[in-house]
Amino acid sequence: MSAPTVLITGTSTGIGLETAVGAARAGWRTVATMRDVSRADALRRAADAAGVADLLEVRRLDVTDQASVTACVADVVDAHGRLDAVVNNAGAGHVGTLEQETIDDVRAVMEVNFFGVLHVSRAALPHLRAARGRLVTVSSVGGVVGQPFNEAYCAAKFAVEGFMESLAPLAATVGVTVTVVEPGAVASEFVTNVGVDRDAAVDA
Ligand SMILES: NC(=O)c1ccc[n+]([C@@H]2O[C@H](COP(=O)([O-])OP(=O)(O)OC[C@H]3O[C@@H](n4cnc5c(N)ncnc54)[C@H](OP(=O)(O)O)[C@@H]3O)[C@@H](O)[C@H]2O)c1
Repeated sequence: MSAPTVLITGTSTGIGLETAVGAARAGWRTVATMRDVSRADALRRAADAAGVADLLEVRRLDVTDQASVTACVADVVDAHGRLDAVVNNAGAGHVGTLEQETIDDVRAVMEVNFFGVLHVSRAALPHLRAARGRLVTVSSVGGVVGQPFNEAYCAAKFAVEGFMESLAPLAATVGVTVTVVEPGAVASEFVTNVGVDRDAAVDA
């Protein structure tokens, strides 16, 4: 029997990187995906340090690019014959309030944090059904409690919560476990990647 296989999104930094190394340490064949594979050095170093490099492979997947999602999931199943778990981890913060931003800004936040989750989950579900596997999505405390200046991000995470809570009982009937994780603040690249101009935000 080949090792159980997990695909994780957004593993170049932060929670995704640590989850990928943790999964490999636990003996999972770990497909660590990222939208730019030239950013894999930190993950490879961490996997080497943990002695799990042989269980971890890096593949390209941009959650906003449906074609890259479909291709990656198909390639994983071709290569390993199974997909037992998916961790929808990729996400991006956004700071702003409605009067400061365009609707396109809000749509972009939804594309990564909500529709990205759906692209990956939709492609993976037939394989998770076959494996009676697990679909895990990293939401946020911001998916439970709204936060000022985080309107679009919280809206996307609330949407994830509603979607997965609704999917869970149906998925359970075909043996797939649906889980949502709601972290509070975690030291990662998250705040840096938001790229907020604090002075401009305070002045506005
Ligand atoms: N840190 C916190 O305090 C916190 C709290 C609650 C929830 N969360 C959630 O935890 C998850 C992980 O965040 P983190 O804290 O680890 O932040 P992070 O260090 O910024 O990691 C986010 C990851 O998502 C990736 N990503 C962004 N857009 C993507 C796309 N279109 N396709 C594929 N990957 C993409 C990033 O890749 P690049 O390197 O290419 O940008 C990066 O690898 C997110 O869903 C976030 O909302 C974080």
